[in-house]
Amino acid sequence: MNFELLYSDRIKQLSPSPIRELLKIAVKPGIISLAGGNPSPDTFPVKELKDCFLKVLEKDWKRILQYSPTEGNTDLIEIIKQYSRNQGINCETENILITSGSQQGMDLVCKVLLNPGDEVIVELPSYPGSIHTLKSYQAKLTGVPVDQEGIDIDILEDILKDRQKTGILPKFIYLIPTFQNPSGVTLTETRRNSIIKLAEKYGILIVEDDPYNALRYDGENIKPIKALDRNENVIYMSSFSKTFCPGVRVAWVVGPKDLIRKMVIGKQGADLHTSSLNQAIVAEYCRNNLMENHLKDILSYYKEKRDIMLESIERHFKNVATWTKPQGGFFVWMSLDKKENTDELFSKAVEKGVIYVPGSSFCVDGSNKNSMRLSFATVSNENIKKGIQLLSEIFSL
Ligand SMILES: Cc1ncc(COP(=O)(O)O)c(C=O)c1O
Repeated sequence: MNFELLYSDRIKQLSPSPIRELLKIAVKPGIISLAGGNPSPDTFPVKELKDCFLKVLEKDWKRILQYSPTEGNTDLIEIIKQYSRNQGINCETENILITSGSQQGMDLVCKVLLNPGDEVIVELPSYPGSIHTLKSYQAKLTGVPVDQEGIDIDILEDILKDRQKTGILPKFIYLIPTFQNPSGVTLTETRRNSIIKLAEKYGILIVEDDPYNALRYDGENIKPIKALDRNENVIYMSSFSKTFCPGVRVAWVVGPKDLIRKMVIGKQGADLHTSSLNQAIVAEYCRNNLMENHLKDILSYYKEKRDIMLESIERHFKNVATWTKPQGGFFVWMSLDKKENTDELFSKAVEKGVIYVPGSSFCVDGSNKNSMRLSFATVSNENIKKGIQLLSEIFSL
């Protein structure tokens, strides 16, 4: 068979994720990987998960081993509804859809909203998994820079003004406003207010991707943009991947009822429903109030690592780089003052025994070549220190 003749235009224009390629190097023995984006397996609540699994299986096996409604497990939807309301998000049952990871949430948003060639605004830098999804729906991507306070609102408004003149607005703005992957930056409250006003003024949708929200190590809580939404301008997505474990593939979307209906239809063609068994385990876990204590444990676990990484960077990169100081999440974004190219220096880093993700991998315009994403989540405290020191031997001298 000549498969080249059979492949769709959609798949032909996609290439493998550069990060997944890098992660193949990370498994080589001896390499310190500051490149991964995974949560630490040390935080997975294995025993409690096993107890919940046995409990739901004994109690409710007929239901949870069966096909189930596309919208999601009703107990879990109720838990998400309460959690969302506590975050200030106004929602009913019909506003919620349980998805197989937020990655599927993003896929369904694109499936429902995008025609080939539609414009979508993304942050510079942004999460490559979502860029991949957007590209697979043949979206035209426009990047808007992020600074220490989040997306640049002035540049964003200039673009919207310009598009208004042409009569064709972008379909939506994709944002990761809290402890952003990859920059670690959090969109300030002031900018959240500005962005919702922009969304209302231009009648544009915001897709708020918020999987790190619960992982705050210090600073004041900031409400999601969705909590400021008065006119159905925001679709909100979050996930159990970072707080519980990604292997269960359980996440959720909160959005306008009509749009959720359409996403349900889209999901019926994708996987019928998210694993009934896994949803029941997660619901059981949350129902028994296990999440609160678990969160306390994992916050102190990650906070220590975040602090060690920031101290190490301060020690080795002072005066030669700038970096973000995330109040939560997994990532620090470092930019080298001398504008060294982190793509080109990557092989040198591998030789030294340390890897990072080059900044350009996160940018739809290939910018930020002097930057890199560093993750502290899965690395031992000792190796964070060692990894940063090794990096400094490559870059800063
Ligand atoms: C910003 C962002 N969105 C979505 C995802 C995917 O999450 P999930 O495991 O829920 O599919 C990730 C995972 O790293 C992420 O960083």
